[in-house]
Parts: sequence; structure tokens; C-alpha cells
Amino acid sequence: MSERQWENVVVMDHPLIQHKLSIMRDAKTGAKEFRELVKELAMLMAYEATRGFQLAETTVTTPVAETTTYVLAGKKVAVIPILRAGLGMVDGILELIPAAKVGHIGLYRDPETLMPVEYYCKLPEDIGERDILIVDPMLATGGSASAAVQFLRDRGAREINLLCLISAPEGIQAVVDACKDVRIYTCAVDSHLNDHGYIVPGLGDAGDRLFGTK
Ligand code: PRP
Ligand code: URA
Repeated sequence: MSERQWENVVVMDHPLIQHKLSIMRDAKTGAKEFRELVKELAMLMAYEATRGFQLAETTVTTPVAETTTYVLAGKKVAVIPILRAGLGMVDGILELIPAAKVGHIGLYRDPETLMPVEYYCKLPEDIGERDILIVDPMLATGGSASAAVQFLRDRGAREINLLCLISAPEGIQAVVDACKDVRIYTCAVDSHLNDHGYIVPGLGDAGDRLFGTK
């Protein structure tokens, strides 16, 4: 399946991103380095995902002359990690967008059915006025991401972007089908899902690798 058939999907093939992703995938990479890489990749992804932000003109006096220049036009952003693994991407994005608010959606995949189960939600009150960056390292079946998008839409969210480090074609297709108008940013589209719903080759269980739980 080629990513070219998806209009709203941006595959970030920058050399720095691909290099860092290769180290993350390596089963020998430990939790400390893995966490650092997730944070760095999230920051690089936010750089691309905010490319469309509006600018407003301002005037600045440099040591040499007065000039017309540009600043962000008061864009309000919400970063929404899907717990747990999405937490690893928050700090990298906040370093670029410190004024962003952070909402949390707790979902885990039932290991038998692979269906998302919700266990927590706390969102900024003005979620409907914010540009949203849902963050989760893995887009596998797409169940968790689609549930998070629906959850946010039910609470008034409009402009939704989904940032996932590694995606399976099946997951992208599921989100594209279920969530019209959501723009997906990913660093890689892998081969397929295995019988346990893990991305192949992927990087294993992102939550366990981030938090050292296995
Ligand atoms: C992982 C991952 C996504 C989900 C992706 O979370 O972080 O949220 O699986 O799978 P899907 O696309 O098939 O829904 P997991 O359920 O393992 O929970 P965790 O983050 O708490 O480890
Ligand atoms: N969740 C993960 O953490 N990894 C996968 O490969 C699939 C779902």
C-alpha cells in the first residue's frame, strides 16, 4: 500500500528523522535513549505540523533599523497525548510551543479484541477554540487514534492533527476512513500488523520501552 493514495497524510522522511528512528527501532536501545529520541522526534514533527500557522505583521527596531516582521497570530494549541505512550512526545512539543495547553486521553488496547478502552479524560475547557495535536508514537489498527478523534469531536474540537512516529498502513486507512479532515503526520509507514496487532517491523511496545515496564 503506498502512502501516495492518502491525501491528508504527511510522511516525514527528513534524514535526521530517519536516523533517529533507526536508533529507536533497535531492540538494544535502552529506555533513557529511547525517551530522548521520542522527545526529539516529537519536536521535529511539531515543526512540520505547525507549518500552516498564521502570522501577523509587527514592527521591530533592530540595532540597525526599524523593520516590519512577523509573529505568530495568537494561535491557541492543545497537545493531547494518548496515555501512556503519548506522554513521551509532550515535552518535545512544549519546548517549541510553550503556551500550548495539554489535555490527556487515557486509552489502552484490550489485548484480546485490540479495541480501545477508555479510562481517563481531562481536556482544556476551550478545546473547541484550539488547534489540536493528538500525539501517540504508534498508529497500529488505528482504533485508539480514531476513538481519541471521536472523543475530541464530541467535545467540540474542530482542527485536529494526529502525530504518530510509526504507522501501519492498516491504521492510517482506518483513521482516514473514520476521521475525515484529520491530518496525519508520521515518520514512517511500516509493512503491516502481525497477528497480535503489533507493527512490523515497528519498535515493539512503545509504552513499555518508554517506561521500562517490560
Ligand atoms: C499503544 C500505542 C497506541 C495504541 C496503538 O498503546 O501507544 O495508543 O497502542 O494501537 P491501535 O492503533 O491498534 O489502537 P497501548 O494500548 O499499548 O497502551 P500504553 O500506551 O499504555 O502502553
Ligand atoms: N502499540 C505499540 O506500542 N506497538 C505496536 O507495534 C502496536 C501497538
